[in-house]
Amino acid sequence: MVSQEMSSEVRSPEKAEPKIRIEIGCGGAAAIRDNLAARLQEFKEDSNLWYFGIDIDFGDVLDSKEMVEYEAEDLNEQVPARIKFIRASGDKLPFKDGSVSDVLMRNVLGDPRISLSVRESMIREGARVLKRKGTLTVVEDITPQVTIREGLLGYAGEVLGSQPEYSSRENSPDKVDSRMPTALVARLRKVIE
Ligand SMILES: C[S@@+](CC[C@H](N)C(=O)[O-])C[C@H]1O[C@@H](n2cnc3c(N)ncnc32)[C@H](O)[C@@H]1O
Repeated sequence: MVSQEMSSEVRSPEKAEPKIRIEIGCGGAAAIRDNLAARLQEFKEDSNLWYFGIDIDFGDVLDSKEMVEYEAEDLNEQVPARIKFIRASGDKLPFKDGSVSDVLMRNVLGDPRISLSVRESMIREGARVLKRKGTLTVVEDITPQVTIREGLLGYAGEVLGSQPEYSSRENSPDKVDSRMPTALVARLRKVIE
């Protein structure tokens, strides 16, 4: 289990709990690449921060890893060992219950190529690994209408015990227009044990 592996590396009596961010279904374009310079700075400033990009497709995992390394090199930076890319299924995450601070799913819940039951399982798995008050962020900028039509934000709300908050009115379900690209950005907090 990843979090067990980590504990010997990062936990010592004087250190705070690791702050773990995971991205389920990172594909070959992991979100940590967006504004990589700022992300790397965050890792320099917080030695307890970890990021795991997770995908079921090994090729995608490698692509994301290589792209981040390549872009970091361009910035004359090194990718810290606390940024990792692993192959795993989002419905069977290698993390302990309540051990993760943030879960990101970008263009995964709205991906109709993934069966609905697997996408629902991913939500339950995300909820299982999240700490209380941890957040699940859902970003959909390819097929947000699928996530909306299949009621997956409502389902996530039931599982986590909270209502989705939208980053702005433009990014909320009633504004998403299926005829043109419009991003849906929702954040839900885990409020149940
Ligand atoms: C539409 S792509 C989104 C990729 C990336 N997040 C983005 O926004 O560009 C969906 C991703 O989900 C991954 N995926 C499909 N089933 C999965 C599963 N069971 N567990 C983890 N990832 C999965 C696919 O391999 C693919 O990379």
